[in-house]
Amino acid sequence: MKKTLIIGASGQIGKKFTQLMLDDGNHVVALVRDKSKLSAINNENLTIVEADLTKDFGKAFKQCTNVVFVAGSGGNTGADKTMLIDLWAACRAADYAKANAIEHFILVSSIGADAPSEGSESMQPYLIAKHMADEHLMRSGLHYSIVRPGTLTNDAAKGKFTITRPAQKEDAIITRDDVAKALLFIVNNSPKANTVTELFNGSKSIDEVMK
Ligand SMILES: NC(=O)c1ccc[n+]([C@@H]2O[C@H](COP(=O)([O-])OP(=O)(O)OC[C@H]3O[C@@H](n4cnc5c(N)ncnc54)[C@H](OP(=O)(O)O)[C@@H]3O)[C@@H](O)[C@H]2O)c1
Repeated sequence: MKKTLIIGASGQIGKKFTQLMLDDGNHVVALVRDKSKLSAINNENLTIVEADLTKDFGKAFKQCTNVVFVAGSGGNTGADKTMLIDLWAACRAADYAKANAIEHFILVSSIGADAPSEGSESMQPYLIAKHMADEHLMRSGLHYSIVRPGTLTNDAAKGKFTITRPAQKEDAIITRDDVAKALLFIVNNSPKANTVTELFNGSKSIDEVMK
C-alpha cells in the first residue's frame, strides 16, 4: 500500500494538497509542528506526526513509500531560517528518505533555483538554499521529481498549466491550488524518469504538460 509523507502539511499548499490526497483515497502521513493546524481534516487515512524540522524528524518516514516536501521558512523570516528549513531540512529529508528506501521523493523548489546569481540580492539566499537542496536530492540516488513553481498566488485554481517559463515576469505565476493539483498528479502517476520542472499557470491540462 502506498503511503505518502507530506512534510509541511500545515502550510498553504501543504493543507490543500493533504486534503486533495485524502479526497482521492490516498494514505497520508502529515508532518507538522502543531497538529491543531490540521484539526479541520478528519479522515481515517490520515496519520499526523508532530515534529520540528530543525530537530530529528526521522520517525515520520517509517512505513512511508513516498515523500512530498512542501515546507518552507516563509517570506517573513530571515536567511537563518531559510538555511535551516529550505536548505538543511530538505537535505536531511532526502537523507532520511534514502535510509528508509523511499520510492519517490517530490520536492517543491522554486523558479530561479537553477540560477541563483540571476536573482535579486534579497532573493539570493533563498534561491541558493533551494538550488543546493535540489542538487542534494539529485545526487542522492533517490527517484525524484523536483517542481519549481513560479510566484505563488491565492487565486482560485485555473486548472491550466505550462512548464515553459513565460517571457514576462508577471506571467510567471501559479495558484497554490494548482500546485497542489499538480503534486497530486505527480504522486499518482509517479513518472519513471527523474524530473526537474518549472510550473506556471498556462493553457494545458496537467497530464498534457507532465506527459
Ligand atoms: N511564495 C512563493 O511565491 C513561492 C514560489 C515558489 C516556490 N515557493 C515554495 O513553495 C513551498 C510552499 O509554499 P507555501 O506558501 O505553501 O508555504 P507556507 O505556507 O509558508 O508553508 C510552509 C510550511 O513549512 C512548515 N515549517 C516551517 N518551518 C518548520 C519547522 N521548523 N518545523 C516543521 N514545519 C515547518 C510550516 O509549518 P507551520 O504551519 O507550523 O508554520 C508550513 O507547514 C515553499 O517551499 C516555498 O519556498 C514559494
